[in-house]
Amino acid sequence: MRITLSYATSSDGYLDDCSNERLILSTPEDWEAVYALRREQDAILIGAETLRRDNPSLKHVPTRVVITRSGNLDPEAQFFTVGEARRIVFSEKPVPALESVAEVICCEEGIKARRIVTELERRGINRLMVEGGAKTLQLFLDEGLADVVRRAVNPTILAGERGYAPFRFVPDDNATIRYEQLGAMEVSTITLHPDHSKEERKELAAAIDLSRRCTPAEGSYCVGAVIVTTDGTRYTGYTHETSPTHHAEQEALKKALATGANLRGATIYASMEPCTIRKSEPESCTQLILKHGLRKVVFACYEPNKFVRCDGACTLRAAGVEVRVYPDLADEVLRINAHHWK
Ligand SMILES: NC(=O)c1ccc[n+]([C@@H]2O[C@H](COP(=O)([O-])OP(=O)(O)OC[C@H]3O[C@@H](n4cnc5c(N)ncnc54)[C@H](OP(=O)(O)O)[C@@H]3O)[C@@H](O)[C@H]2O)c1
Repeated sequence: MRITLSYATSSDGYLDDCSNERLILSTPEDWEAVYALRREQDAILIGAETLRRDNPSLKHVPTRVVITRSGNLDPEAQFFTVGEARRIVFSEKPVPALESVAEVICCEEGIKARRIVTELERRGINRLMVEGGAKTLQLFLDEGLADVVRRAVNPTILAGERGYAPFRFVPDDNATIRYEQLGAMEVSTITLHPDHSKEERKELAAAIDLSRRCTPAEGSYCVGAVIVTTDGTRYTGYTHETSPTHHAEQEALKKALATGANLRGATIYASMEPCTIRKSEPESCTQLILKHGLRKVVFACYEPNKFVRCDGACTLRAAGVEVRVYPDLADEVLRINAHHWK
């Protein structure tokens, strides 16, 4: 998934003022650019306080997402009632009052950005825009799950008691920044993670091709994997290639380790999410990836809940590994594994 954070602030860093009226900081030129960006997204996410204070409708976006701890949201709010869209609520407890107007995803263990991203990717969402408020933007930044930050600064000052929802973001030295002036607004587009989707898709296609070499078996999925080390050396594998208990990732890792390759910082491309539970081997593929210090995992299809409940993506993200998922390629992986759904 590609994640963009987008917000407008006053020049002293507030997202809103304390009045009950919604404060519009963007100028018409900036709104136009924001609407264009929205149209590129599969989903827009906001925090519950933004929904309660601003009552936005978020029209023209296929999926609207809101996060709440309390579940205190009005089912009559425009978010739930205006226009056609899929609506998803992440809540820490069941919210029966919202079940007729949205899909409620209950995260009793607490709402983490990585859990949100995983659940949205499982539902086919590939481009997400997070529009705030401050607490919601911070949630994604704290977990390193923002790729691009679009910050639009209005010259107005809301100093002191007038300012509400202060938000400051200081990019690190690795970020690249593009500036533009849109009417009175000074807009910075800050890229934290460059878009490598072209090469990732190419290697993923190679991993999916490898998975076609597997002999379909009742107790396992047909999966292919490609490892690319930091010096560009590639190692490949597919399920059961050399052993009836090996997964594709294990096969590729085994070949790399046999040559003495340095796997620190390497990327692994796999047609399916790396497993977290193994019965026939001492370590799961996720554990092996973490043990050998791979930096990035790219896959196409979340493991279906057929044999076990896999939590590979979330576990890897929690450990600081970059995970990229291409849900639009998942159908092909499921077709290759069609013997499981007969
Ligand atoms: N200028 C802009 O571009 C812009 C954009 C968006 C919003 N805003 C402004 O921002 C203000 C709101 O900002 P805010 O920071 O106060 O609130 P917010 O981020 O909109 O929402 C915070 C709420 O989201 C839920 N939440 C946040 N993190 C959570 C987590 N980790 N787990 C579970 N739930 C979580 C909680 O909901 P519950 O309270 O329901 O538990 C929390 O109170 C509004 O005034 C709005 O106008 C401005």
